[in-house]
Amino acid sequence: MFTQTLIHLLIFYVLKSDCMLYTKGTESREVRELGGIWQFRADTSDGRNLGFEKQWYTRPLAMTGDVIDMPVPSSFNDITQDRMLRDFVGWVWYEKNFFPPRTWKTAKQRIFLKFESAHYNSIVWLNGKQVAAHEGGHLPFQAEVTHLLNFGYSNRLTAAINNTLTPYTLPPGTITYPKHQSHYPKGYFVQNFQTDFFNYAGIHRPVKLYTTPMLYISDITVVTKISGTTGIVNYNIRVEGASSPVTYTIRLFDAEGMKVAVGQKASGQLNVSNAHLWWPCTMSEHPAYLYTLKVKIEDGSDEDMYDVAVGIRTVEVTKTKFLINGKPFYFLGVGKHEDADIRGKGLDYPTMIKDLNLMKWLGINSFRTSHYPYAEEIMDLCDRHGIVVIDESTAVGMKTVDNFSDTTLQHHLAVMEELVTRDKNHPSVVMWSVANEPNATLVEAGAYFKRVVDYTRTLDGTRPVTLVTGGNLKPEFDNAAMYGDVICLNTYFSWYGNPGRLEVIQYQASTNLRAWFEKFQRPVIQAEYGSDALPGLHTDPPMMFSEEYQIDLLTEYFKVFDEVRSEFFVGEMIWNFADFSTAQTNALIGARNMKGILTRQRQPKSAARIIKKRYYQIGNTTVQTHNKESKIYIFSIKSIPVA
Ligand SMILES: *[C@@H]1O[C@H](CO)[C@@H](O)[C@H](O)[C@H]1NC(C)=O
Ligand SMILES: *[C@@H]1O[C@H](CO)[C@@H](O)[C@H](O)[C@H]1NC(C)=O
Ligand SMILES: *[C@@H]1O[C@H](CO)[C@@H](O)[C@H](O)[C@H]1NC(C)=O
Ligand SMILES: *[C@@H]1O[C@H](CO)[C@@H](O)[C@H](O)[C@H]1NC(C)=O
Ligand SMILES: *[C@@H]1O[C@H](CO)[C@@H](O)[C@H](O)[C@H]1NC(C)=O
Repeated sequence: MFTQTLIHLLIFYVLKSDCMLYTKGTESREVRELGGIWQFRADTSDGRNLGFEKQWYTRPLAMTGDVIDMPVPSSFNDITQDRMLRDFVGWVWYEKNFFPPRTWKTAKQRIFLKFESAHYNSIVWLNGKQVAAHEGGHLPFQAEVTHLLNFGYSNRLTAAINNTLTPYTLPPGTITYPKHQSHYPKGYFVQNFQTDFFNYAGIHRPVKLYTTPMLYISDITVVTKISGTTGIVNYNIRVEGASSPVTYTIRLFDAEGMKVAVGQKASGQLNVSNAHLWWPCTMSEHPAYLYTLKVKIEDGSDEDMYDVAVGIRTVEVTKTKFLINGKPFYFLGVGKHEDADIRGKGLDYPTMIKDLNLMKWLGINSFRTSHYPYAEEIMDLCDRHGIVVIDESTAVGMKTVDNFSDTTLQHHLAVMEELVTRDKNHPSVVMWSVANEPNATLVEAGAYFKRVVDYTRTLDGTRPVTLVTGGNLKPEFDNAAMYGDVICLNTYFSWYGNPGRLEVIQYQASTNLRAWFEKFQRPVIQAEYGSDALPGLHTDPPMMFSEEYQIDLLTEYFKVFDEVRSEFFVGEMIWNFADFSTAQTNALIGARNMKGILTRQRQPKSAARIIKKRYYQIGNTTVQTHNKESKIYIFSIKSIPVA
């Protein structure tokens, strides 16, 4: 009894304080991945509550009823031929049986169980005991399970995951029961939400069991600065479980493996003379230079090691420019989704690398993690390839006054904290986006976003913060954009507004961008624009949904961008990189948003070629010269008219 309470206290403490470093093996840590085929069943009972009533977590899931095989990681929705499961709302149950390595039994160490993400509400049991609960998709959670593992016989890991979107989830949603119950099957209900993408669910990212020594590094924060040709790396290390004073061995290595700086304290400053800076891929012939910070801690009886990649770079925003390392950066970007055939939003290495290769092929230098945090593996890739990221929270679809409740605010702040904690060390992340297209005409949105943006700044004072503004809103009616450092606008001229009338774009987009700049006096990004295009549909003259229409619409916007580029305009981000799945409606064919310049299978539509041409042309006008003496890359952006 006492032990159990103790364990619960411990778990609570661990969950609150410690879910920071990416889970990987080091000299002192071992990882056992629990991915693969899990057992699965959806709770199809009327209230979706049978699993809890019958305590399915207390015995093998197969003993509670029929189970099916389910791959982890993946969304469960598109795996089977069952229409009910594609659109299922409520609790689904997962189970995995595993053996921890025998060597872990005697080792004096801690063992953690980590879910890199599951959507949306998750409860996790190990051998029938609840070990973790987490609210929100797309961000990790973990629990210490050191004293709960069985050695010598199998362990049963059970997870119940509920994808229901409620007024207090992000994104929000509601469950409604039809008025005329007699027209529907018993217990019938519908999930409503305001997001234009399918609510994929399940265990979306890896599940890992990992060890740390009793004394371990629980967090590392790195903040970089530049002073002349010197790179300044400020670091701060958090340690848990020290039994006596801790000694720190901090070493910074360059990309060639040469030691360039050392430290001996929990926090300090490392100076790197003639530093190689981390540059985005369009700003240097040698982009994405990474150092490695190796941290070792010892307390006489124990030691732990962990290393993080460090990109030395700065980010600043002036009235008209977005500066990386003091030089103007121009976003040649896209909005994306973690979305692909069959696996839904599940992490998948082939798709991840294919997307990276496509971005390089298209000349894309940046994207926004619309509309939720992406897998950490993707952020690492961006660090290594010089792809710039606007890192967005899960706050999308906030449309009515109720959506700005205090309960939602508290959750929103928690999401920002989890996001910043997870991604703060990535040089690729240059800005936080706290929300996408909230209804900012509401007065309530003002106070709400002031809180969220202010809080985000307290979490990270080094990066600008934005919120992405939706629609064709006039700036004088907006109550929230003023709190961001950069104006990010989504507009759909000649698509949702004035459909079919391409001739209005030059007028409307130009008026719109200028109005926002004039009102707020800060740099502007076109964060979304575009049109649906059905691959293979050709019309001339161009008509909506044809590939030609998509080309012409984008081209009309380009003309406006080229006009404002030399003034206050710092980036263009097409909506969307690839077609993606939506809820079924009578306006979208095949439950697809077809605004991709690629199909969902990652094949180019005609528009891909014009993007490639434009992005290469603009990217190539960034001329680099390598100043051999300072080893700092100098370049300038020339304005070359686009054909
Ligand atoms: C789980 O799903 C059911 C069905 O949608 C819903 O009524 C319930 O509120 C959900 N619970 C949680 C915690 O999300
Ligand atoms: C949030 O906004 C949606 C869309 O207007 C609405 O259906 C829902 O009831 C709102 N309220 C809450 C509390 O989320
Ligand atoms: C690092 O360089 C900065 C700026 O040149 C200087 O102010 C600081 O004292 C140096 N720090 C150390 C630890 O050498
Ligand atoms: C935003 O709020 C206003 C004021 O309540 C309302 O009239 C409008 O319909 C809302 N917009 C959306 C997109 O829900
Ligand atoms: C731009 O850069 C790419 C990659 O370095 C190169 O292949 C291409 O020929 C360059 N020029 C133009 C006009 O795209």
